Amino acid sequence: MDAAEVARLKALMEWEGQRRAPPHGFPHLPDLPAARYTSPEYYALERDHVFRKSWLFAGHMDEIPEPGCYMRWHNAGDPIVIVHGMDGVVRAFYNTCRHRGAPVVTADRGKSSRLMCGYHNWTYKTDGTLVGVPERQDFPPDFDLSCRGLLPVRCELLGRAIFVNFDEGAMPLKQWMGPLWDEWAEFAFDRIRLASRHCFDLQCNWKIAMEANMEVYHVPFIHPTTVAPLVDARRNLNTLYPNGHARMLAPAPRQTDREHVRAIDSPPGWQQIESVGELGRTATQSYTLFPNWVSPLSNYFVPPLVFWPTSLTTTRLELVTMALDWGDGSAPDLWTVPDESQPNGRQMSPIILEDTQFGEAIQHSAQSAAFRSVPLSYQEARIYAFHQSLDKMIGIDNVPPALRTQQVIGPEWVWPNDPRVAQMAREAAE
Ligand code: FES
Ligand SMILES: [Fe+2]
Repeated sequence: MDAAEVARLKALMEWEGQRRAPPHGFPHLPDLPAARYTSPEYYALERDHVFRKSWLFAGHMDEIPEPGCYMRWHNAGDPIVIVHGMDGVVRAFYNTCRHRGAPVVTADRGKSSRLMCGYHNWTYKTDGTLVGVPERQDFPPDFDLSCRGLLPVRCELLGRAIFVNFDEGAMPLKQWMGPLWDEWAEFAFDRIRLASRHCFDLQCNWKIAMEANMEVYHVPFIHPTTVAPLVDARRNLNTLYPNGHARMLAPAPRQTDREHVRAIDSPPGWQQIESVGELGRTATQSYTLFPNWVSPLSNYFVPPLVFWPTSLTTTRLELVTMALDWGDGSAPDLWTVPDESQPNGRQMSPIILEDTQFGEAIQHSAQSAAFRSVPLSYQEARIYAFHQSLDKMIGIDNVPPALRTQQVIGPEWVWPNDPRVAQMAREAAE
Protein backbone atom coordinates (compact mmCIF):
# COMPACT_ATOMS: atom_id res chain seq x y z
CA MET A 1 0.00 0.00 0.00
CA ASP A 2 1.56 3.31 -1.03
CA ALA A 3 2.04 6.31 1.24
CA ALA A 4 -0.77 8.29 -0.38
CA GLU A 5 -3.23 5.46 0.24
CA VAL A 6 -2.10 5.11 3.86
CA ALA A 7 -2.55 8.87 4.36
CA ARG A 8 -6.00 8.78 2.74
CA LEU A 9 -7.15 5.89 4.95
CA LYS A 10 -5.83 7.56 8.11
CA ALA A 11 -7.67 10.75 7.20
CA LEU A 12 -10.85 8.79 6.50
CA MET A 13 -10.66 7.08 9.92
CA GLU A 14 -10.47 10.53 11.56
CA TRP A 15 -13.33 11.73 9.39
CA GLU A 16 -15.46 8.72 10.42
CA GLY A 17 -14.83 9.64 14.07
CA GLN A 18 -16.10 13.18 13.45
CA ARG A 19 -19.16 12.58 11.31
CA ARG A 20 -22.60 13.18 12.79
CA ALA A 21 -24.53 11.07 10.27
CA PRO A 22 -23.83 8.43 7.64
CA PRO A 23 -22.00 9.74 4.55
CA HIS A 24 -24.02 11.75 2.03
CA GLY A 25 -25.81 9.51 -0.36
CA PHE A 26 -25.21 6.32 1.57
CA PRO A 27 -28.40 4.29 1.08
CA HIS A 28 -30.84 3.57 3.87
CA LEU A 29 -30.48 -0.17 4.38
CA PRO A 30 -33.80 -1.99 4.18
CA ASP A 31 -34.39 -4.65 6.84
CA LEU A 32 -33.05 -8.10 5.99
CA PRO A 33 -35.78 -10.76 5.89
CA ALA A 34 -35.56 -12.90 9.03
CA ALA A 35 -36.10 -16.08 7.04
CA ARG A 36 -32.64 -15.77 5.51
CA TYR A 37 -31.46 -17.37 8.77
CA THR A 38 -34.19 -20.01 9.06
CA SER A 39 -35.35 -21.00 5.58
CA PRO A 40 -34.31 -24.48 4.40
CA GLU A 41 -34.84 -23.22 0.86
CA TYR A 42 -32.38 -20.36 1.30
CA TYR A 43 -29.90 -22.68 3.01
CA ALA A 44 -30.04 -25.04 0.02
CA LEU A 45 -29.38 -22.10 -2.32
CA GLU A 46 -26.34 -21.10 -0.26
CA ARG A 47 -24.96 -24.62 -0.36
CA ASP A 48 -25.59 -25.10 -4.06
CA HIS A 49 -24.39 -21.72 -5.30
CA VAL A 50 -22.24 -19.94 -2.71
CA PHE A 51 -20.27 -22.89 -1.33
CA ARG A 52 -20.04 -24.67 -4.69
CA LYS A 53 -18.75 -21.67 -6.62
CA SER A 54 -16.54 -19.70 -4.21
CA TRP A 55 -12.90 -20.19 -3.37
CA LEU A 56 -12.74 -21.82 0.08
CA PHE A 57 -9.84 -22.05 2.51
CA ALA A 58 -8.92 -25.71 2.84
CA GLY A 59 -5.49 -25.99 4.39
CA HIS A 60 -1.86 -25.01 4.59
CA MET A 61 1.26 -26.40 2.94
CA ASP A 62 2.66 -27.26 6.39
CA GLU A 63 -0.01 -29.97 6.53
CA ILE A 64 1.29 -31.58 3.31
CA PRO A 65 4.90 -30.38 3.27
CA GLU A 66 6.52 -32.94 0.97
CA PRO A 67 5.72 -34.71 -2.30
CA GLY A 68 3.45 -37.63 -1.50
CA CYS A 69 1.85 -35.96 1.53
CA TYR A 70 -1.93 -35.83 1.57
CA MET A 71 -4.70 -34.62 3.87
CA ARG A 72 -8.39 -35.27 4.05
CA TRP A 73 -10.70 -32.28 4.04
CA HIS A 74 -14.47 -32.27 4.37
CA ASN A 75 -15.41 -28.89 5.84
CA ALA A 76 -17.47 -28.09 2.75
CA GLY A 77 -19.36 -31.38 2.98
CA ASP A 78 -17.96 -33.58 0.22
CA PRO A 79 -15.06 -35.90 1.06
CA ILE A 80 -11.93 -34.37 -0.46
CA VAL A 81 -8.28 -35.36 -0.42
CA ILE A 82 -5.63 -32.71 -1.01
CA VAL A 83 -2.40 -34.14 -2.35
CA HIS A 84 1.12 -32.75 -2.66
CA GLY A 85 1.96 -34.56 -5.87
CA MET A 86 5.20 -36.41 -6.54
CA ASP A 87 5.67 -33.76 -9.25
CA GLY A 88 5.42 -30.98 -6.64
CA VAL A 89 1.98 -29.78 -7.74
CA VAL A 90 -0.77 -29.49 -5.11
CA ARG A 91 -4.10 -30.92 -6.26
CA ALA A 92 -7.49 -31.70 -4.75
CA PHE A 93 -9.67 -34.69 -5.60
CA TYR A 94 -12.87 -36.22 -4.37
CA ASN A 95 -11.75 -38.90 -1.93
CA THR A 96 -13.94 -41.31 -3.82
CA CYS A 97 -12.65 -44.36 -5.64
CA ARG A 98 -13.94 -44.56 -9.19
CA HIS A 99 -14.81 -48.24 -8.69
CA ARG A 100 -17.47 -48.40 -6.00
CA GLY A 101 -16.88 -45.23 -4.06
CA ALA A 102 -14.72 -46.27 -1.14
CA PRO A 103 -12.23 -43.65 0.08
CA VAL A 104 -8.78 -43.71 -1.48
CA VAL A 105 -7.27 -42.45 1.77
CA THR A 106 -8.64 -43.17 5.23
CA ALA A 107 -6.16 -41.30 7.43
CA ASP A 108 -6.56 -37.60 8.10
CA ARG A 109 -2.99 -37.15 6.93
CA GLY A 110 -0.33 -39.38 5.48
CA LYS A 111 2.36 -39.82 2.88
CA SER A 112 2.48 -42.21 -0.03
CA SER A 113 3.70 -42.16 -3.62
CA ARG A 114 0.44 -43.85 -4.68
CA LEU A 115 -3.15 -43.59 -3.42
CA MET A 116 -4.64 -47.05 -3.05
CA CYS A 117 -8.28 -47.78 -2.30
CA GLY A 118 -8.53 -50.34 0.49
CA TYR A 119 -11.61 -52.06 -0.87
CA HIS A 120 -10.23 -53.72 -4.04
CA ASN A 121 -6.87 -51.96 -4.26
CA TRP A 122 -7.49 -49.77 -7.27
CA THR A 123 -4.38 -47.60 -7.29
CA TYR A 124 -3.93 -43.98 -8.39
CA LYS A 125 -0.89 -41.80 -8.96
CA THR A 126 -0.72 -38.57 -6.98
CA ASP A 127 -1.90 -36.71 -10.07
CA GLY A 128 -5.13 -38.75 -9.90
CA THR A 129 -4.38 -41.11 -12.80
CA LEU A 130 -5.71 -44.65 -12.31
CA VAL A 131 -2.75 -46.99 -12.80
CA GLY A 132 -3.69 -50.25 -11.12
CA VAL A 133 -6.78 -52.48 -11.25
CA PRO A 134 -6.41 -55.99 -9.77
CA GLU A 135 -7.94 -58.82 -11.83
CA ARG A 136 -8.07 -56.48 -14.76
CA GLN A 137 -8.86 -59.38 -17.11
CA ASP A 138 -12.32 -59.68 -15.55
CA PHE A 139 -13.33 -56.23 -16.75
CA PRO A 140 -14.25 -55.78 -20.43
CA PRO A 141 -11.29 -55.64 -22.86
CA ASP A 142 -12.09 -52.03 -23.76
CA PHE A 143 -12.27 -50.92 -20.11
CA ASP A 144 -10.46 -47.57 -20.25
CA LEU A 145 -8.46 -46.69 -17.15
CA SER A 146 -7.60 -43.27 -18.53
CA CYS A 147 -11.13 -41.98 -18.06
CA ARG A 148 -11.47 -43.34 -14.52
CA GLY A 149 -8.95 -41.21 -12.68
CA LEU A 150 -9.85 -39.46 -9.44
CA LEU A 151 -12.24 -36.61 -10.06
CA PRO A 152 -10.44 -33.31 -9.48
CA VAL A 153 -11.57 -30.21 -7.63
CA ARG A 154 -10.02 -26.83 -8.46
CA CYS A 155 -7.12 -26.10 -6.13
CA GLU A 156 -4.95 -22.97 -6.01
CA LEU A 157 -2.50 -21.43 -3.59
CA LEU A 158 -2.34 -18.05 -1.92
CA GLY A 159 1.30 -18.33 -0.94
CA ARG A 160 1.24 -21.35 1.36
CA ALA A 161 -2.51 -21.29 2.03
CA ILE A 162 -4.52 -23.82 0.03
CA PHE A 163 -7.89 -22.90 -1.47
CA VAL A 164 -10.35 -25.11 -3.35
CA ASN A 165 -13.34 -24.41 -5.56
CA PHE A 166 -15.93 -26.97 -6.65
CA ASP A 167 -16.80 -24.99 -9.77
CA GLU A 168 -14.71 -26.07 -12.75
CA GLY A 169 -15.52 -22.78 -14.46
CA ALA A 170 -14.65 -20.52 -11.53
CA MET A 171 -12.37 -17.54 -12.11
CA PRO A 172 -8.80 -18.00 -10.80
CA LEU A 173 -8.24 -17.29 -7.10
CA LYS A 174 -6.19 -14.19 -7.89
CA GLN A 175 -9.02 -12.69 -9.90
CA TRP A 176 -11.56 -13.69 -7.22
CA MET A 177 -9.56 -11.84 -4.59
CA GLY A 178 -9.18 -8.76 -6.79
CA PRO A 179 -7.39 -5.92 -4.97
CA LEU A 180 -6.90 -8.09 -1.89
CA TRP A 181 -4.32 -10.13 -3.78
CA ASP A 182 -1.94 -7.15 -3.82
CA GLU A 183 -3.04 -5.66 -0.50
CA TRP A 184 -2.21 -8.93 1.25
CA ALA A 185 1.24 -9.23 -0.29
CA GLU A 186 2.77 -7.56 2.77
CA PHE A 187 1.49 -10.35 5.04
CA ALA A 188 3.96 -12.86 3.61
CA PHE A 189 1.51 -15.64 2.75
CA ASP A 190 4.38 -17.24 0.84
CA ARG A 191 6.43 -17.70 4.03
CA ILE A 192 3.91 -17.86 6.83
CA ARG A 193 3.66 -21.07 8.88
CA LEU A 194 0.62 -22.84 10.23
CA ALA A 195 0.75 -22.54 14.01
CA SER A 196 -2.63 -23.92 15.06
CA ARG A 197 -5.95 -25.01 13.64
CA HIS A 198 -8.96 -26.10 15.73
CA CYS A 199 -12.69 -26.55 15.14
CA PHE A 200 -15.66 -25.87 17.41
CA ASP A 201 -19.33 -26.60 16.77
CA LEU A 202 -21.78 -23.74 17.23
CA GLN A 203 -25.55 -24.00 17.52
CA CYS A 204 -26.60 -21.33 15.06
CA ASN A 205 -26.77 -20.56 11.36
CA TRP A 206 -23.33 -19.85 9.92
CA LYS A 207 -24.26 -16.26 9.05
CA ILE A 208 -25.30 -15.47 12.63
CA ALA A 209 -21.92 -16.73 13.80
CA MET A 210 -19.95 -14.91 11.13
CA GLU A 211 -21.76 -11.59 11.44
CA ALA A 212 -20.49 -11.25 15.02
CA ASN A 213 -17.14 -10.64 13.33
CA MET A 214 -18.27 -8.26 10.60
CA GLU A 215 -18.99 -5.06 12.52
CA VAL A 216 -17.39 -3.09 15.33
CA TYR A 217 -20.68 -1.71 16.69
CA HIS A 218 -20.63 -4.50 19.31
CA VAL A 219 -17.04 -3.99 20.42
CA PRO A 220 -17.56 -1.57 23.35
CA PHE A 221 -20.44 -3.67 24.67
CA ILE A 222 -19.39 -7.30 24.53
CA HIS A 223 -15.61 -6.82 24.49
CA PRO A 224 -15.10 -4.05 27.10
CA THR A 225 -11.79 -5.43 28.39
CA THR A 226 -10.53 -7.52 25.48
CA VAL A 227 -10.99 -5.79 22.12
CA ALA A 228 -12.30 -2.34 23.15
CA PRO A 229 -8.89 -1.14 24.49
CA LEU A 230 -7.45 -1.80 21.01
CA VAL A 231 -10.21 -0.67 18.67
CA ASP A 232 -11.84 2.75 18.50
CA ALA A 233 -15.21 1.73 17.08
CA ARG A 234 -16.16 5.37 16.34
CA ARG A 235 -13.20 5.80 14.01
CA ASN A 236 -13.76 2.53 12.21
CA LEU A 237 -13.59 2.67 8.42
CA ASN A 238 -15.29 -0.01 6.33
CA THR A 239 -14.29 -0.67 2.74
CA LEU A 240 -16.31 -2.86 0.39
CA TYR A 241 -14.54 -4.78 -2.38
CA PRO A 242 -15.76 -6.57 -5.50
CA ASN A 243 -16.95 -10.19 -5.17
CA GLY A 244 -18.26 -9.63 -1.63
CA HIS A 245 -14.97 -9.07 0.20
CA ALA A 246 -14.61 -6.27 2.76
CA ARG A 247 -12.23 -4.66 5.23
CA MET A 248 -12.56 -2.90 8.55
CA LEU A 249 -9.80 -0.57 9.68
CA ALA A 250 -9.79 1.11 13.08
CA PRO A 251 -7.13 2.85 15.16
CA ALA A 252 -6.63 2.23 18.85
CA PRO A 253 -8.57 4.57 21.16
CA ARG A 254 -6.61 7.74 21.91
CA GLN A 255 -6.52 6.94 25.62
CA THR A 256 -5.07 3.48 25.06
CA ASP A 257 -1.77 3.12 26.78
CA ARG A 258 0.81 2.09 24.20
CA GLU A 259 2.38 -0.34 26.64
CA HIS A 260 -0.95 -2.16 26.86
CA VAL A 261 -1.11 -2.47 23.09
CA ARG A 262 2.45 -3.66 22.92
CA ALA A 263 1.87 -6.27 25.62
CA ILE A 264 -0.91 -7.80 23.55
CA ASP A 265 0.57 -7.29 20.12
CA SER A 266 4.22 -8.07 20.68
CA PRO A 267 4.53 -11.57 22.04
CA PRO A 268 8.09 -12.32 23.11
CA GLY A 269 10.08 -14.50 20.75
CA TRP A 270 7.61 -14.31 17.89
CA GLN A 271 9.01 -12.98 14.70
CA GLN A 272 7.44 -9.94 13.14
CA ILE A 273 6.35 -9.99 9.52
CA GLU A 274 8.74 -7.20 8.64
CA SER A 275 7.05 -6.33 5.35
CA VAL A 276 3.81 -5.25 7.07
CA GLY A 277 3.16 -1.56 6.59
CA GLU A 278 2.09 1.21 8.92
CA LEU A 279 -1.62 0.41 9.10
CA GLY A 280 -1.03 -3.26 9.85
CA ARG A 281 1.25 -2.21 12.71
CA THR A 282 -0.70 0.64 14.22
CA ALA A 283 -4.37 -0.06 13.52
CA THR A 284 -6.64 -3.07 13.74
CA GLN A 285 -7.74 -4.32 10.38
CA SER A 286 -9.90 -7.29 9.61
CA TYR A 287 -10.83 -8.65 6.22
CA THR A 288 -13.82 -10.66 5.11
CA LEU A 289 -12.83 -12.95 2.26
CA PHE A 290 -16.19 -13.93 0.81
CA PRO A 291 -17.92 -16.13 1.66
CA ASN A 292 -16.74 -17.51 4.99
CA TRP A 293 -13.30 -16.24 6.08
CA VAL A 294 -12.78 -13.32 8.49
CA SER A 295 -9.26 -12.44 9.54
CA PRO A 296 -7.50 -9.66 11.33
CA LEU A 297 -4.10 -9.17 9.71
CA SER A 298 -1.18 -7.68 11.59
CA ASN A 299 2.60 -7.69 11.74
CA TYR A 300 2.48 -10.81 13.92
CA PHE A 301 -0.42 -12.94 12.77
CA VAL A 302 -2.64 -14.15 9.98
CA PRO A 303 -5.40 -15.70 12.11
CA PRO A 304 -8.52 -16.47 10.04
CA LEU A 305 -11.84 -17.51 11.53
CA VAL A 306 -13.58 -19.72 8.99
CA PHE A 307 -17.31 -20.47 9.22
CA TRP A 308 -18.67 -23.72 7.78
CA PRO A 309 -22.39 -24.46 7.64
CA THR A 310 -23.01 -27.99 8.90
CA SER A 311 -26.81 -27.63 8.80
CA LEU A 312 -29.32 -24.79 8.67
CA THR A 313 -28.89 -24.23 12.41
CA THR A 314 -25.34 -25.41 13.12
CA THR A 315 -21.89 -24.15 12.20
CA ARG A 316 -18.36 -25.44 12.45
CA LEU A 317 -16.08 -22.59 13.45
CA GLU A 318 -12.51 -23.14 12.42
CA LEU A 319 -9.93 -21.12 14.36
CA VAL A 320 -6.58 -20.83 12.62
CA THR A 321 -3.38 -19.05 13.56
CA MET A 322 -0.60 -18.53 11.03
CA ALA A 323 2.61 -16.73 11.97
CA LEU A 324 6.07 -16.23 10.56
CA ASP A 325 8.11 -17.92 13.26
CA TRP A 326 7.93 -18.49 17.00
CA GLY A 327 11.41 -19.65 17.83
CA ASP A 328 11.69 -22.47 20.33
CA GLY A 329 8.49 -21.64 22.18
CA SER A 330 5.17 -23.35 21.71
CA ALA A 331 3.27 -22.55 18.55
CA PRO A 332 1.09 -19.47 18.92
CA ASP A 333 -2.65 -19.91 19.03
CA LEU A 334 -4.51 -16.63 19.04
CA TRP A 335 -7.98 -18.07 19.43
CA THR A 336 -7.91 -21.01 21.83
CA VAL A 337 -6.56 -21.72 25.29
CA PRO A 338 -5.82 -25.03 27.03
CA ASP A 339 -8.70 -26.53 28.93
CA GLU A 340 -7.41 -27.79 32.26
CA SER A 341 -10.31 -30.20 32.68
CA GLN A 342 -9.36 -32.02 29.51
CA PRO A 343 -5.61 -32.35 29.21
CA ASN A 344 -5.76 -32.75 25.45
CA GLY A 345 -8.71 -30.49 24.90
CA ARG A 346 -8.82 -26.84 24.13
CA GLN A 347 -11.44 -24.18 24.54
CA MET A 348 -12.19 -21.00 22.71
CA SER A 349 -10.34 -17.91 23.94
CA PRO A 350 -12.18 -15.18 25.88
CA ILE A 351 -12.63 -13.02 22.75
CA ILE A 352 -14.17 -15.89 20.78
CA LEU A 353 -16.39 -16.84 23.73
CA GLU A 354 -17.60 -13.24 23.81
CA ASP A 355 -18.29 -13.22 20.07
CA THR A 356 -20.10 -16.55 20.05
CA GLN A 357 -22.06 -16.14 23.30
CA PHE A 358 -25.39 -15.10 21.75
CA GLY A 359 -25.44 -17.32 18.67
CA GLU A 360 -27.58 -20.14 19.98
CA ALA A 361 -30.09 -17.79 21.63
CA ILE A 362 -30.33 -15.67 18.47
CA GLN A 363 -31.02 -18.83 16.48
CA HIS A 364 -33.84 -19.74 18.89
CA SER A 365 -35.27 -16.25 18.52
CA ALA A 366 -34.90 -16.37 14.76
CA GLN A 367 -37.19 -19.39 14.72
CA SER A 368 -39.80 -17.63 16.88
CA ALA A 369 -42.49 -15.17 15.86
CA ALA A 370 -40.53 -12.33 17.47
CA PHE A 371 -37.76 -12.20 14.92
CA ARG A 372 -39.27 -10.47 11.91
CA SER A 373 -36.51 -8.62 10.14
CA VAL A 374 -33.05 -7.22 10.76
CA PRO A 375 -32.37 -3.46 10.62
CA LEU A 376 -28.71 -2.62 10.01
CA SER A 377 -26.88 0.65 10.54
CA TYR A 378 -24.21 2.28 8.35
CA GLN A 379 -21.65 0.83 10.75
CA GLU A 380 -23.00 -2.65 9.91
CA ALA A 381 -22.83 -2.10 6.14
CA ARG A 382 -20.35 -4.93 5.69
CA ILE A 383 -23.06 -7.34 6.82
CA TYR A 384 -25.58 -5.84 4.43
CA ALA A 385 -23.12 -5.94 1.53
CA PHE A 386 -22.34 -9.57 2.41
CA HIS A 387 -26.04 -10.43 2.06
CA GLN A 388 -26.21 -8.59 -1.26
CA SER A 389 -23.26 -10.66 -2.43
CA LEU A 390 -24.87 -13.92 -1.29
CA ASP A 391 -27.92 -13.19 -3.42
CA LYS A 392 -25.77 -12.17 -6.40
CA MET A 393 -23.79 -15.39 -6.13
CA ILE A 394 -27.00 -17.42 -5.93
CA GLY A 395 -28.51 -15.43 -8.79
CA ILE A 396 -31.07 -12.87 -7.66
CA ASP A 397 -33.83 -14.45 -9.73
CA ASN A 398 -33.22 -17.77 -7.99
CA VAL A 399 -33.96 -16.23 -4.57
CA PRO A 400 -37.67 -16.21 -3.66
CA PRO A 401 -38.78 -12.55 -3.50
CA ALA A 402 -39.68 -12.75 0.18
CA LEU A 403 -36.13 -13.85 1.01
CA ARG A 404 -34.22 -11.35 -1.12
CA THR A 405 -31.85 -8.66 0.06
CA GLN A 406 -32.53 -5.48 -1.85
CA GLN A 407 -29.47 -4.44 -3.84
CA VAL A 408 -29.30 -0.88 -2.53
CA ILE A 409 -25.53 -0.52 -2.06
CA GLY A 410 -24.39 0.28 -5.59
CA PRO A 411 -20.97 -0.06 -7.20
CA GLU A 412 -20.27 3.60 -6.39
CA TRP A 413 -19.60 2.39 -2.80
CA VAL A 414 -17.38 -0.49 -3.84
CA TRP A 415 -13.59 -0.23 -4.21
CA PRO A 416 -11.96 1.65 -5.90
CA ASN A 417 -14.91 4.02 -5.61
CA ASP A 418 -15.47 5.82 -2.32
CA PRO A 419 -17.70 8.92 -2.19
CA ARG A 420 -16.47 9.59 1.35
CA VAL A 421 -13.16 10.88 -0.01
CA ALA A 422 -14.87 13.72 -1.91
CA GLN A 423 -17.15 14.52 1.01
CA MET A 424 -14.18 14.70 3.35
CA ALA A 425 -12.36 17.04 0.95
CA ARG A 426 -15.43 19.27 0.56
CA GLU A 427 -15.86 19.55 4.31
CA ALA A 428 -12.18 20.32 4.80
CA ALA A 429 -12.48 23.15 2.26
CA GLU A 430 -15.51 24.68 3.98
S1 FES B 1 -14.16 -49.32 -4.30
FE1 FES B 1 -12.12 -48.79 -4.59
S2 FES B 1 -11.22 -50.52 -5.44
FE2 FES B 1 -13.29 -51.06 -5.25
FE1 LIG C 1 -16.23 -9.26 18.30
